[in-house]
Formats: sequence, C-alpha cells, structure tokens
Amino acid sequence: MSKHHIEMTINGRRHSGDVEARVSLSDFLRDDAGYTGVHVGCEHGVCGACTVIVDGKAVRSCLMLAVQAEGAQVTTVEGLAASDGTLHPVQQVLLEEHGLQCGFCTPGFVMTLAALTDGDAKPSEQQLVSALSGNVCRCTGYQGIRRAAKRLACNEAGENS
Ligand code: FES
Ligand code: FES
Repeated sequence: MSKHHIEMTINGRRHSGDVEARVSLSDFLRDDAGYTGVHVGCEHGVCGACTVIVDGKAVRSCLMLAVQAEGAQVTTVEGLAASDGTLHPVQQVLLEEHGLQCGFCTPGFVMTLAALTDGDAKPSEQQLVSALSGNVCRCTGYQGIRRAAKRLACNEAGENS
C-alpha cells in the first residue's frame, strides 16, 4: 500500500514520517513518534482517552487520520509540563483534587481541560464540565475531576488557578 510523507510539529518539535492513509493520528503519535501518553481505549471516539490538542482544539486522535494532521501543531500530554518538571495548571489541580486513580483516562481529561483553559479563554465551570462529558473514567467516580474543573473555572475565583 502506498505511503504518504507527512510532517507536523509535536510538542514543539518537528516530526515527519511515511504513513499509509488509513493510519490514525493516535497510532502515528504512539507508534511512530513515541508519544505513548496518548492512550487508546475504545478507538471509536467514545472514551476520550486519546484526546490531544491539534491547532488549539481538543480532538480525539483515534478519529483523525495522521495525514489530516499534516502541517499541524499537535500537543500531547507529554508537552504540557515545563522543562523543569513544573506541572501544567490542569495537571497540578487534578493532582491536588485526587482526580485520578489508575490514570488511563487522565491524559484525555487533561488535554480536554487544557484546550479550554490555555490562552485567553475564560470558560465557566459548566462549560468545562460539559466538555468533559465526552471523557470516560472507570475509577474515580468523577468527583475529584469535577472539583478540579471547578477550580479551573474563571467564575470561581475570577481567574485561573
Ligand atoms: S480511544 Fe479515542 S475516543 Fe476512545
Ligand atoms: S483513573 Fe482509571 S479510568 Fe480514570
């Protein structure tokens, strides 16, 4: 089967590869680029575990073809913490609120929240909770995750945590 040469920026680094047209972005990120923080659960767009940020928007990378991300800016969970190890505010708040247990779903929750809270956006708690409705967690019961969303919402303290 013929392959397509694609190039994209992943976590600030250029990455190129040759892929068949049928290869999903999640498989390309994990198998070709080595970003195994992209977790693949359902592969049907249902669980949200594979969520990454593509050109500023949260996307389910199991539903996007790698060739569709040609030239894009892609961020995975590995790209959020600072180089000195300081956690991204979303990661820090999830940690403090005990918003994870086994951690399988966590990259997806983190990326969904980061896509909404990074930059100038000032989402409400309701907007954050509603965005998270597409992310499934089998362990936590969601209460810690909801507390984290509440703290990240600008309508709580007037600014992001
Ligand atoms: S693995 Fe992509 S939504 Fe479940
Ligand atoms: S922490 Fe285990 S699935 Fe969410």
